[in-house]
Parts: sequence; structure tokens; C-alpha cells
Amino acid sequence: MKAWRNDAVNDMELQRLLSMMTLEEKVDQLLQLAPAFFEGANSAGQITGPLEGLGITEATVRRAGSALGLGGAEEAIAIQDAHLRHNRLNIPLLIMADVIHGYRTIFPVPLAIGSSWDMELAGRTAAIAAKEAAAAGIHVTFSPMADLTRDPRWGRVMESTGEDPWLNGEYARAFVRGYQGKDVAKEPYKIAACIKHFAAYGAAEGGRDYNTVDMSEWMRREYYMPSYRAALDEGCEMVMTAFNTVDGIPATGNRKLMRDLLREEWGFNGVLISDWGAVKEMIPHGVAENERECARKAIEAGVDIEMMSPCYPHHLQELVESGEVDVKLVDEAVMRILRLKRKLGLFQKPHRYADPAAEQDILLCAEHLDAAHEAALRSCVLLKNEQNTLPLNKDMKTALIGPFAVSDDLLGPWSCMGKREETATLAESMSLLAGSSALTAVGCGVESITEKELTDMLTAARSADVVVLALGEASEMSGEAGCRADIRLPGCQLELVQRVRELGKPTVAVLFNGRPLDLHGVLDEADSVLEAWYPGTKGAEAVAELLYGEANPSGRLTMSFPYSVGQVPVYYNAFNTGRPQSDPSAPVRYESQYLDIPNEPLLPFGYGLGYTEFEYGQAVLSSDELHAGSSLSASVSVTNAGSRAGEETVQLYVRDISGETVRPLRELKAFRKITLNAGETKEIEFLLTEDMLRYHHSDLSYHSDSGAFIAMVGPNSREVQELPFQLISGVYGTTTTTT
Ligand code: BGC
Repeated sequence: MKAWRNDAVNDMELQRLLSMMTLEEKVDQLLQLAPAFFEGANSAGQITGPLEGLGITEATVRRAGSALGLGGAEEAIAIQDAHLRHNRLNIPLLIMADVIHGYRTIFPVPLAIGSSWDMELAGRTAAIAAKEAAAAGIHVTFSPMADLTRDPRWGRVMESTGEDPWLNGEYARAFVRGYQGKDVAKEPYKIAACIKHFAAYGAAEGGRDYNTVDMSEWMRREYYMPSYRAALDEGCEMVMTAFNTVDGIPATGNRKLMRDLLREEWGFNGVLISDWGAVKEMIPHGVAENERECARKAIEAGVDIEMMSPCYPHHLQELVESGEVDVKLVDEAVMRILRLKRKLGLFQKPHRYADPAAEQDILLCAEHLDAAHEAALRSCVLLKNEQNTLPLNKDMKTALIGPFAVSDDLLGPWSCMGKREETATLAESMSLLAGSSALTAVGCGVESITEKELTDMLTAARSADVVVLALGEASEMSGEAGCRADIRLPGCQLELVQRVRELGKPTVAVLFNGRPLDLHGVLDEADSVLEAWYPGTKGAEAVAELLYGEANPSGRLTMSFPYSVGQVPVYYNAFNTGRPQSDPSAPVRYESQYLDIPNEPLLPFGYGLGYTEFEYGQAVLSSDELHAGSSLSASVSVTNAGSRAGEETVQLYVRDISGETVRPLRELKAFRKITLNAGETKEIEFLLTEDMLRYHHSDLSYHSDSGAFIAMVGPNSREVQELPFQLISGVYGTTTTTT
């Protein structure tokens, strides 16, 4: 019965295949398993271990529809071949993996890429990741993560691009374009993308992973949904459910969210996959008594693939046979999966691009390493530079000390196939540039420092002209389940900073971390601070070049750095409240403020410095009225007033003075990256149109209102010039919900 295999090219043929499948085969097609379950896996002999864990039979494994997280082309080919040998209808496996910021060539973490404000670069990193992953036998990546994040305690902020809904949407689009190309079916070495985690996973209470999410639908649509929607508008093939609740119901069993919004309203007809184990997690969530109820709720919500829990294989058949679940729901889910398999060409080419020889040539090839280098250069953010301590002078004796001085923990979480040993350390990279005689490097632990380490570091610092402190969080301190309630650097590192300051030497701090930190004790102590995030395979080289001035830092933050964890969530696009603080320097009681800390974050959204200074001229609007159907221009001249070339990110924000619902103090609407030579001036013009002023009203309709607005232009969300204007002539935009 394999006659259909080479000609399963249209829906009718897939329908024919579906009609040949037994109910059991259909149900198991909806199951996704880790590689260890499959014959042919590198992890030989493990087939009985995890099998017992999920309580599924070998026959079920033979009928499963997809696998996740394979370890390379050879394994992918072996697993696919064995699967096809045993699968009665010869239906190939879909192979998926978490290719989050590179496959083997690791790019900076997404929050760092976010700091580049460079969509072309973001797309290129995804295209390279896709090429490497495709050659290694992967068909789908569980990326991009488009969750809006406002809470740096949450470990997964490193996997997001930040706190702005529009910018996140632009990045999500860029990543999807990079992974899938214009046509994932036709362009070589493309893989399908999966937007996650639908929906609002980034809003977990207290920043604790997997925790409750609860917000109004208005808030969700206005802030949390646009980035997922942007990815789908870009043609993203798959969606993953979130672990959290949405309106009291776990997303994975939430019909309103998945059927009514995602499928009906947004028209998404691709594959919806649960997150790992999330179907069965409805039991501890407390909305299902047993696996059977989980299976029913998930299929009714429209979840096509159950990742790593056994509710479908154990119960779906019986649920259909007893008439509790309409077989149509199962058929629809199977068809969506088969369609994706067909689209990716798996019926004709079950190995797709998996090829051990090509894999050898492609992984870590020069072009990919160059891109990783460029991405790292462009995503570091200079947070402070007093007395021009940076760039470093190569002739000065430098002590490089701290936990990241000689560490290879630079790839960050979610660098599954990346290899630390392929990554240079900062000490190696700096001594390549400056010569080893100019540099003394001494490392230490991240969370504890021994007496000997401290003595050695201080000895090195004492005999140096300048001290570079390489500080940060170990990669396991962020990422999934990597939440922290205290987002300062570990105490031993803050103490190290103090001890170094006592020496009175010029001091530079370089930070390797996955979240906005409370930087008290670093930002106020060091003369210069460079945020390097987890910069990836070529990160150390890039950071060394930035430190020595061979390149000029140009990154800008896309998540606010809080003054203290007590402010969290703190984000730039906040509402004014009815009692805004009138004067931070002279607090008045009964205004919205803290008694002990400022309202403002330590470092705002959009912020970042470089080795040159930019001066902004007087910004002007072409008119003080904007009519729907026409546009208004906001222009400003920007001059490089320093002595070297540099890149500036000119940002445009808008405030709607009086909406039907409250409106944020500012919202990013556009930005422009410009490179200016020393002394050069450029005129920057932004066009403002009515559609940029639309928002969700209380009835969830999406349109603009006439009235007073302020356009704002500046180098970051705090330092802006304000330009008032009026939107004339009524209500524009759709009156139905759009995002
Ligand atoms: C994560 C997902 C990931 C999945 C598969 C889950 O724990 O939340 O983001 O794609 O595992 O590895």
C-alpha cells in the first residue's frame, strides 16, 4: 500500500491516504516524541526507558507522526528510514527541533539580536540557522518566540526580542522570513517556523515560569497578540500553545483562544502543537481529572500535535468510538499534519536536506561564522562610558578578571547543538588583538569566589593600568525555568567590583547575561559598562574588537533595565495613571510613585551609546494636522559631533493624548538606523499616517480617533523632542477586531 507515496501531491490524494488510515493510525499521527523513543536514535538502547515513562507501546511509536530534537543528519536519516520501514502506510516523520538562535553556529540570544534593531540581520541569522538545521535533517524549528516580556525575573526574556509589541512583530516577521524564505516548499534549505507560545506566555505572574497569566482581553489584543499575528501574516506554518492559563483556562485546552480566535477569526489553518507535556499538564492545572479529559479538551481546542505526553494515544480512539469526540476533529488534525508533510516535500523526499556530507560543509562554514561575528558586534550595547575609558588602549597593561574572563559559557541557553569548545574566550580574543604581554587574565566562579581567586584577581588588577571586569550570569541562570527573584549580579561579583574600585584604577565592566539586570553596584561603580548578553560562537572576538575600538558599539536596549526588582514590571509604554508623579525631585504625597525609589527604570527602552556623540537638531512636523489618507512628516537633523564614524538609531514615538481607552505615554512607531562619519549631518524624515494611530477600543474594535497627539523623536524613549499635532476627521480603520 505505498502506491500513493510518490504522488501525494494534492489534497485529494491526502484525503485518500487519510481514508486508508485506521483510527489508531490517525490518533498516533498526532503524537510527537523525543528521539530516544525511535529506532535509529544515537542514544541506542533507550527505547524502553522513556517508553515506560509515557506508557506507550512500541506499535504507537511506529505510528507516531513527528519527532523533536534530533542530533544531526545521520541520526535523522536512520530514524526516518527505520520509521518508514515499520510504518504500515509509509508516512514519513516530521522532524522538529528548538533552533532558537542558531543551530551549530550560535548567534547572540534573541534579546541581543533584538538590541541590533536590524531586521535584515535578524532574518539572515534565521536563514543561516535554517540552512544548518535543514542539512542536519530538521524540518521545523520551534522558533520564533514572540512573547512580549515585561518582567526580567522571567528566565525566558533572553529568548524574546523585548517589551515593544510592534518591534517584536517586526522581528517575528524577519525570523519567519529567514527560516521559511518566500516559499518553504521551493527554496532550498528552508525550514518551517513555529510561532510560540500562544498566548501571552511572557506575562507569567511574578516572572515565575509556567505561572498563571491573567489579563483583560483588551490588554492581550493590544499588547500581547500583535507579534504572533505578525508572524502568521508572514506565513508562519505552525503555532505552539503556551503552558499558561488564558482567562482561567490553560491555553492548550482553550477553545476560545484556539478555535475562536486563532482558527476562526485569524483564519490560521496550519498545525497547532502543544508545548512539551502541556496536554497532560491540564491535570495539575486543575481543569482535567485524568488523561482522558485532557485528550478531549485538547482536541476540542484544536491542538493537532501532542508533544511528549500520551493523552491522545491512550484515549482519543476510545473518545471517538464512544461518540464523545467527533472523528472529524481527528481527521482535520491529521490532514493539517499531512498537508505540512506534503508541503515540505516529505512524501517525495523523506530525508529532505539531511545529508551528512553537506552538513560537514555547511555547519560553522566561514560565511556563517562571519554572520555570527557581525551579529555579535551589532547586538552589544554600551551602557556607560565615562572619561572615555573605552575603547581600551592596546598599549596599556590590562587586567581581565572575573567569572567570564576565561569562560566559554558564551553561547547562552537554547544553544542545543552549539559547542562551547568551539568558542574562544574573552581572554583569548583580547590577547589576540593586544598581545598576550599586555593582558593578564584571571577567572573565578560565577556564584562564589574562592580566596585564592580573589587574591589572584586583585594582584592582577593592582599591577594593571586598566581593569576589565567580565561579569554576568551563568547560562543556566536564565532560559526556560531559569527565573530569579533577585536580578542583581551574584553578591560575590558585586563585592569583586567594590574591591577593584578601591584600587582606584579605570574600570570597565563587560556583562554576559540573559536578562535586564538591576545594575546597582556595577553601573554606578565602573567607568564604562558594555552589555554583551550571550554573544554566541563568535561573541568573544566581537566583544574584544568593541573593547579595543576596532568596532563601534551600536546596540540599543529593547527591554528596560529596572532601577530595582521592586519596580518590575517596568516598561516604557506604560499608562500615565490619574495621578502621575509631577516632579520626581520634589515628591508630593498621593501621587503614583514609590517612597524609596524612582518610577523610571535605570536604563530606558531604546537606550545605548557608542564611541561618538550624536547631536539632534530641532525636530519639525510638516503640518500640525494629519488627515486620514495623507501623511505627516516628522523630520530632524542628526549630526555626528564626535571624531569617529558611528551608527545612530533615530526613534519615533507617538502619544495619543485622549483615547476612548487609556493610551500609553509613548509607543514606538518607526526607527531609522543611520551611519554618519565624523562631522557628517543627515536629515531624517519619518512619515506618520492614520493607520499608525489605530488601537483597540473597549469593544475590541481597532481604529483611530480624531484628536490631539504628540509625535516624539529622539535617540531613546526617554530623551525625546515633542511635536503636537491633531488627527482630523473622525474614526478610521476597521470597526471589527483585527489583532
Ligand atoms: C518549551 C518550548 C520548546 C519545547 C520543545 C518546552 O519546554 O517551552 O519552547 O519548544 O519545550 O523543546
